[in-house]
Amino acid sequence: MVKVAVIGSISMDLVVTANKRPLAGETLMGDSFHTVPGGKGANQAVAAARLGADVAMIGRVGDDAFGTEVLDNLKNNRVSVTNVEPVTHQATGTAHITLAEGDNSIIVVKGANDEVTPDYIKGAEDVLQQADIILIQHETPEDTVEYVAELCHRLGKKLLLNPAPARKISAQVLEYATYITPNEHEFTVLFEGESRSKVLAKYPNRLIITEGKNGVRYHNGSTEVVVPAYVVEAVDTTGAGDTFNAAFAVAVAEGRDMSEAIQFANRAASLSITKFGAQGGMPTRAEVEGSL
Ligand code: RIB
Repeated sequence: MVKVAVIGSISMDLVVTANKRPLAGETLMGDSFHTVPGGKGANQAVAAARLGADVAMIGRVGDDAFGTEVLDNLKNNRVSVTNVEPVTHQATGTAHITLAEGDNSIIVVKGANDEVTPDYIKGAEDVLQQADIILIQHETPEDTVEYVAELCHRLGKKLLLNPAPARKISAQVLEYATYITPNEHEFTVLFEGESRSKVLAKYPNRLIITEGKNGVRYHNGSTEVVVPAYVVEAVDTTGAGDTFNAAFAVAVAEGRDMSEAIQFANRAASLSITKFGAQGGMPTRAEVEGSL
């Protein structure tokens, strides 16, 4: 069983479904409202655990009702929460999600996730030492991502950086991360004005662009490759990227090559969007393998 450590956000998703999203100054009637566990870090931890990995989460929640609920959810999914300490001066992070017209729009209030600082990571170094692969995203402070990239480089650990939501990264983070997995929009923020093909060729087998239903693009050292997505009926695409990242990380930690790992991750991501909620459709190992 591979060991995965996830550093990142743990949030409660507050989800409204409606026919369309309101314009500025407009009020609309929605169809439904649900609170479901989310946060990119927690989503990736749950996805990896359902795929059979031994997962440790490193993050923070508030000392409040949402905090208790999202923590229980991690435990119920067999994710170790030894390194999830509640904070008293910040609320649990929340993501305010509108599902309308076949897509989501999200506003994140980071809350306690902002307390995932470099100093906090220092307290979890033993967990990172034991991990086969470490995942981090952009819902934690920028200096934490920089610290973790440098630490993983020093410890000789594989690091997967999922640069979501979009924000610039330093040349050093780019150099130290083993894998970087932007979507198309995040790619344009990271490599503003640069040719996609040239950038992919510069980071062979490391830079992986997720393009939703168009598949996944990377350079294999000889040529640019697109691994097609699986076609499914989408109910809710929230968390598809998180499922992809977790599944890819589990697969490469298990020793699969890039092409196999991306196919496995594409399949897991496609299954994840067939149910409501970021974590609602995240598949088990048997579900992914049974459908490949
Ligand atoms: O990637 C999906 C996640 O992003 C949601 O669960 C929400 O928490 C947002 O942060």
